[in-house]
This record gives sequence, structure tokens and C-alpha cells, in this order.
Amino acid sequence: MGRLVVVSNRTPGKGPAAGGLAVALRQTLAEREGFWFGWSGKLVDIPEPHAQITDIDGLTVAQIDLTRDDHQAYYGGYSNSILWPSFHLRLDLATIEAHWYEGYRRVNTQFARALLPLLKPDDVIWVHDYHLIPLATELRNLGARNRIGFYLHIPFPTPDALYAIPHHQELMRDLSRYDLVGMQANRDVAAFTEFADHQTPSSLDGARVHSVDFSRTEVVAFPIGSDPDAFARLAVSPAATKMVRRVERTLADQRLILGVDRLDYSKGLPQRVEAYEKLLANDSRFRRQIHMLQVAPPSRDAIKEYQETSDTLDAVCGRVMGRFAEPDWQPLTYVKRAYGQPSLAGLYRLASVGLVTPLRDGMNLVAHEFIGAQDPTDPGVLILSRFAGAAEIFPDALLVNPFDTDETAEALRMALDMPLDERIARWTTLMASAQKHNVTDWAKHFLDHLAPAKVDHSSTRDVLYLASVA
Ligand code: G6P
Repeated sequence: MGRLVVVSNRTPGKGPAAGGLAVALRQTLAEREGFWFGWSGKLVDIPEPHAQITDIDGLTVAQIDLTRDDHQAYYGGYSNSILWPSFHLRLDLATIEAHWYEGYRRVNTQFARALLPLLKPDDVIWVHDYHLIPLATELRNLGARNRIGFYLHIPFPTPDALYAIPHHQELMRDLSRYDLVGMQANRDVAAFTEFADHQTPSSLDGARVHSVDFSRTEVVAFPIGSDPDAFARLAVSPAATKMVRRVERTLADQRLILGVDRLDYSKGLPQRVEAYEKLLANDSRFRRQIHMLQVAPPSRDAIKEYQETSDTLDAVCGRVMGRFAEPDWQPLTYVKRAYGQPSLAGLYRLASVGLVTPLRDGMNLVAHEFIGAQDPTDPGVLILSRFAGAAEIFPDALLVNPFDTDETAEALRMALDMPLDERIARWTTLMASAQKHNVTDWAKHFLDHLAPAKVDHSSTRDVLYLASVA
């Protein structure tokens, strides 16, 4: 078996690996003697052409620096002001500056040039996320003949949203240069297939533009997961218990409604707080009995639309406080700070309700982690957006339309009133699904599928959905 080379914009840092993805890929890299390649996090005037190789807690990481201008065009510009909003169907929040594409392309070329000398012919390359869609093209242009797979962690857009992206035709051609493209959900594969089957390429001068040929690329849904059993252990660890004790003291007998999300407009945070406001307004018996905690670490805060989301959330939370708080009772707490996995696991376990209501989301791992952390004898209830990829694998959550705050308010009421036997029944099914879709198997399924010598996929067929792209 060849080595595995993982490529992503960010690389894992020192200390305990934060996410399940990093843990799972670290394990695979350790078994296959591979390495992780990505941006160092540093901005310099003139980057070295060669990657710096370091050992981070036993993991080999190769990193390159970027110039400030390229990083702005590639990360703040094309990736996060065009691709991110468009892929999340928020064209109203996209800033279409077509020239950012050049910086995006330049960085992908820089990645390829620095990566190529580190490759062996039988290495398998696994590229992650929307920042690096052109990487296979750039590597192939330099002569790489390796198997190259791509995984999209965010939703795939509808054809109309895709057509709104400058240079979408090149992007799709770039996707066709991968041997395997993995997506989060069947919904994403269906959107991709719709584009692939009904392409209407056009050019300003009316010249003929060829449709993209996807006949050599497999596009498959591999829903990512977490490690729910590890989360279950973490939720009763001393560090988690310390957080639980702190919060329990301030909650007294109030029941906790919890949200944990990056401060991103795709997460539907203002709508969520509005739904909570409606619950308090509609049903006075809940006042003084419940408390909402929203953890929202700041994200991409150099981008105007993120600052505006933060301001909107401040205003909505302020409104709810002004309307319902009393000198001795606050309806909600809102913290713009990141917490480590142990503290989060403790909070998940303490919560009566996990509120995971993004307007659109690739998967949403908070849903998986919330399920993993519950007490099996007294589990909390998961309220989940039907527009998160997770909705496909967790139909036993209370599924809501997050744009409809009346519906979310009603789901909150149902969750708070739900009898223990129903909570246990729902949670048991959710936990079984979280265990089945664990992150270790996810990585294995993807890599088995990408492997040069084809393996028998019969055992993974239930999570695969093959697009008819021939
Ligand atoms: C999403 C993306 C990841 C990204 C993460 C954090 O989950 O799919 O690729 O790393 O957000 O965003 P950031 O811009 O801080 O890397």
C-alpha cells in the first residue's frame, strides 16, 4: 500500500488534536507513513518554494507560507467570499470580485509546486475542501500520475448558484481531474449530477464552450462522522465534569438549551435566538425554568458579512434579554469564545436540548458530538435543521425548517415536554447511526474506494450513492 498524503488549507496544530477528522486522519497517516501538507499559517513577503517539514506530536507536516495578497485573494476572497456563500446558497452575501480567482489559482499552483517534489509514484493523495479544488489539475499539469481524491466538506450548490460563480466552468473541469470526489450527502451528489447532466456552458462572445467530461470521475456520498464512543467517555471525564459543575451551579434547577457553532451566517444563529424568544413569549410556564447557552467562537472576522452576522446576533440577544430578563433571571448566555472538546462534551451532556439549526450545512458534527455525549439513561433531545447533511442520517432527531422560527419554537416546546421513554427511544436510534457513521470508517471507506487496486465495496454500499456521471 502506498503512502497517504493529506492536503488541506489548515494543518493540525500542536497539542491534543481538536477535531475528530484530525484524529482519524492522524491514525491513518501513522499506519501508512504518510504526511499532511498545507498552509503554515504564516504570511511573508517572498515565500520559499519548498515546503518546511516538521514533526508535530509524531505527525509529519509539510507546510508552505503565502504572501499576504495571495492569501487575501485565495482565502478571504475567492474561497470565503465567493465559494462559501454560493455553495451555501447565500448569493446575497457573496462578493463577486472575479480577479480573486487569479490569487486562488496562484495559491493552488504554489501548493502543487511545493508538493510535487515530496511525492512518490504510488502515493495516494487526498485533498480536502473548497480552497483546493484546482489542486489535481495543477498536480497533473506538473506530471503527477498518482491517484488523487477530493472531499468536499461543505454542501454542493444547486446549478443556478454554481452558474453565479465566476470561473465555475474551470472549477468543474478541475473536479473532473480527480479520480474520486467525495461529498457529505446524497443531496450533494444529486445537485452535482444535475449540473453534470444538464450543463449549459456559455461564453460572452458566443463561442462554443465544451461541457465538462466527468466520465473518469466517480462522485460518491461519504457522510462524515465523529467518534461518538470517545465523546461518551470524554463527557464523563474530570475536565468535562469540572465544566458541568460550574454551569450547574449557575443553572440551579433550570434546564439547558445549548447551541455550539462557529459564528457564521450559515449557522442560522439569529433565527435560532428568535425561535427561543417565541417560545418564551408563547409559553410563560418556561420562563425561569430554562436557559439558553449559545457558544459561538468568532470566525473569518475580517470579512464584512461575518462582522454583520455578529452584530445582528448581538442585537437579537440584547432584544431577548431586554424583553424577558429580570434582576434575578437571565434567559440566555451568549459567549463568543472557543472551548476545548472536554468542556464542550460536558456541556452537551448537561443540556436537555441540543439546538443544531444551520440554514445549510455540509454535515454538522456538533449533532454527532451532542448525541455521543448524552447520558443513555436520561438523554437530551436533538433539534436538527433539515438542511444539514446530518438530517439524512439522523431522521429521529426533531427535524425543523430553521427559516420557520414558529416551527423551531414548537420543536423546542416538544423537546422540553418529551417524556423520558421517547427521549431514550429516539436517542438509542440516533446513537446507533452516529456509531455506524463514525469518522474512522468514513476515512477507510473513502480510501478503500480511492485505492488503485479496487476492493470489494459490498460492505459500504449502504452509505454510498453513485452519481450517474458517465
Ligand atoms: C468549515 C470548512 C473547513 C474550515 C472550517 C473552519 O468546516 O469546511 O474547511 O477549516 O470551516 O474555517 P476556517 O476558515 O477558520 O478554516
